[in-house]
Amino acid sequence: MTLPTTARLLFTSDLSICRILNGMWQVSGAHGAIDPARAIAVMFPYHDAGFTTWDLADHYGPAEDFIGAFRRQFAAERGAERLPEIQAFTKWVPHPGPMTRRVVADAIAVSLRRMGTDRLDLLQFHWWDYRDQRYLDALQHLADLQSEGKIRHLALTNFDTERLALIIQHGIAIVSNQVQYSLVDRRPAVKMAAFCGQHRITLLTYGTLLGGLLSDRYLGRPEPARGEFATASLQKYKQMIDAWGGWALFQELLAVLKHIADKHGVSVANVGTRYVLDRPTVAGVIVGARLGIAEHIADNGRVFDLTLDADDLTAIEPVLAKSRDLMRLIGDCGDEYR
Ligand SMILES: NC(=O)c1ccc[n+]([C@@H]2O[C@H](COP(=O)([O-])OP(=O)(O)OC[C@H]3O[C@@H](n4cnc5c(N)ncnc54)[C@H](OP(=O)(O)O)[C@@H]3O)[C@@H](O)[C@H]2O)c1
Repeated sequence: MTLPTTARLLFTSDLSICRILNGMWQVSGAHGAIDPARAIAVMFPYHDAGFTTWDLADHYGPAEDFIGAFRRQFAAERGAERLPEIQAFTKWVPHPGPMTRRVVADAIAVSLRRMGTDRLDLLQFHWWDYRDQRYLDALQHLADLQSEGKIRHLALTNFDTERLALIIQHGIAIVSNQVQYSLVDRRPAVKMAAFCGQHRITLLTYGTLLGGLLSDRYLGRPEPARGEFATASLQKYKQMIDAWGGWALFQELLAVLKHIADKHGVSVANVGTRYVLDRPTVAGVIVGARLGIAEHIADNGRVFDLTLDADDLTAIEPVLAKSRDLMRLIGDCGDEYR
């Protein structure tokens, strides 16, 4: 299988990405036991199919080490000159505390070492508490490290529109914000997307498949009990569904999506991914990959052959209209973490 050219996007002037990114939270240990050798071996089929872009974080268990090992094997087998074919977007999620140059530089040095590179493609920064304004210090130091060549591009994750605006006002160049965005959680459409559009910032989305709940597998299934879920991801997004409108409404949504999926000869997951990929300012959808446990390479590839038409969007709207307003209930992007 090879992905069509529409699968790729010039994310920045110097980085082309696959618009479905492989999410590596799923190797952290909270989504089933991962065999490192097997996981690294299956990164090759993703890459060879065209899924060349990885999303990870300093705190996703061995994810950064897996990228390091994958890069080493890739260079040994195919030549180091081909390493730029791989894009690896990590995050720094610091514990609250002083954000001196030393603290920031040390954290970035760890990611560089683990990932086996001398420059991070994208560093996505997370912050837990807006009352502690030292996130601006941290970002200034990150910008300095960027100008020294240690980071190619700076990005954020889970920042709200208000703080994103503040960061921009401080003259820090941000290329993207990673936020939860799905047919269930459409908060980014309220404020974030318009702001990003005005400032040439893009969105990378997670939770688009609700940990796998937004798939054929859960259509017609009775409401799962809390203890039934095998992954942290499923638990997280079941709570989101509960806040949004509950299991019965979610089943209505899945039924409509199934109808659309059948019409186009694709899967429910494909419809959910395509819907978010088509939203303004969305650069890519991150789909979690339980490497070596369950792969969906061929199915996710079909997203790029799918076009949702006006009838499809019209069919979805009445179900979404019955849901609660998550912006009012939770707040802007990322507020669920604060
Ligand atoms: N910035 C943040 O705060 C944040 C938070 C969460 C996640 N993330 C990022 O986003 C990534 C995605 O994580 P997520 O928790 O949001 O999970 P997700 O992508 O919504 O769900 C991943 C799960 O969906 C299932 N799946 C994938 N493709 C499928 C298909 N074609 N058909 C049916 N099922 C399919 C798989 O389940 P099975 O494995 O069971 O088959 C997979 O484990 C993470 O790895 C991470 O990189 C970031």
